[in-house]
Amino acid sequence: MENKINQIRAEFIQDLGNIRNNQDFEAIRVKYLGRKGFIQNLYTSLREVEAEDRPQVGKAINDVKAFIENKLEELRAGFTTTKSREKFDLTLPGRLASTGRKHPLTLVMDDVKKFFLRLGFTIADGPEVETDYYNFSALNFPQYHPARAMQDTLFISSEVLLRTHTSPVQIRTMLKQKPPVRIIAPGRVYRRDTPDASHSPFFHQVEGLFVDKGVSFGDLRAVIQEFAKYMFGQDIHVRFRPSFFPFTEPSMEYDFNCIFCRGKGCKVCKYSGWVEISGAGMVHPNVFRNVGYDPDIYTGYAFGMGVDRITMLKYNIDDIRLFFENDMRFLQQF
Ligand code: PHE
Repeated sequence: MENKINQIRAEFIQDLGNIRNNQDFEAIRVKYLGRKGFIQNLYTSLREVEAEDRPQVGKAINDVKAFIENKLEELRAGFTTTKSREKFDLTLPGRLASTGRKHPLTLVMDDVKKFFLRLGFTIADGPEVETDYYNFSALNFPQYHPARAMQDTLFISSEVLLRTHTSPVQIRTMLKQKPPVRIIAPGRVYRRDTPDASHSPFFHQVEGLFVDKGVSFGDLRAVIQEFAKYMFGQDIHVRFRPSFFPFTEPSMEYDFNCIFCRGKGCKVCKYSGWVEISGAGMVHPNVFRNVGYDPDIYTGYAFGMGVDRITMLKYNIDDIRLFFENDMRFLQQF
């Protein structure tokens, strides 16, 4: 019996050294002090001990029990104080830090910038809350001309509005510097639109402006065509259609063929096989006059680009609203 007691003590000391966490601690405690634990067993087998030896053996069991209880209590005290001091358990598996990622619109914006920076364009900026002057008047929209109604404007006051396009950055840039000018202006624009799969009350454009001596309409077509190839590969088709903007003459709108359905017709291209990217044209002489450039010396082209549309084509996204809902399941795919 005494042997057995000593064995249990020795085994306990070994077990004690292997306790690494609360779970181990609890298992060891139950193993020795539990209702079916070693100590209880010892008490049970006390019955088989000769009556005269019983007090002595009983005391030995009491001793080892007290020893185990004390050691466990010491350890528990150590556990809880370190725990409250440091609040971490080194044995727990690490938690993965989740990293953010770029929004698909940002990815495409970055790509657009890369293309134009390589061609020698620089990046210009302007405010989203604009005045009527920069958004309309300086861009050759006459005061009461119906052309202002082409774009459903969100007015803040009669003079202040949310810019309906990035074209006011053309004016701001030309007022600040002399030609040659070669800039792009990426940014958010606003229009009074009811959201659906292809419309949103705010979206993104990249404006382009190139002013120098001898800039031609051919240069404009070439740069748009090259851009389309850069974004979508050699097979892309670009369609130019005559159009009207007060600040360009001649003006056009341009479309890319719908990569999404390969021209078969789908929700994105409204079953036409083409996706409207934006407008472009040669800077109107009146715009040059408004910023103090001589239209007899300089010519220039300007274009807009619908970044949301380009992103939809690039990543097969059939609903523009996905860009603004910030559903993680959508955003995590990029
Ligand atoms: N600002 C025009 C629009 O948003 C697009 C455009 C830009 C047209 C530059 C011509 C030149 O519709």
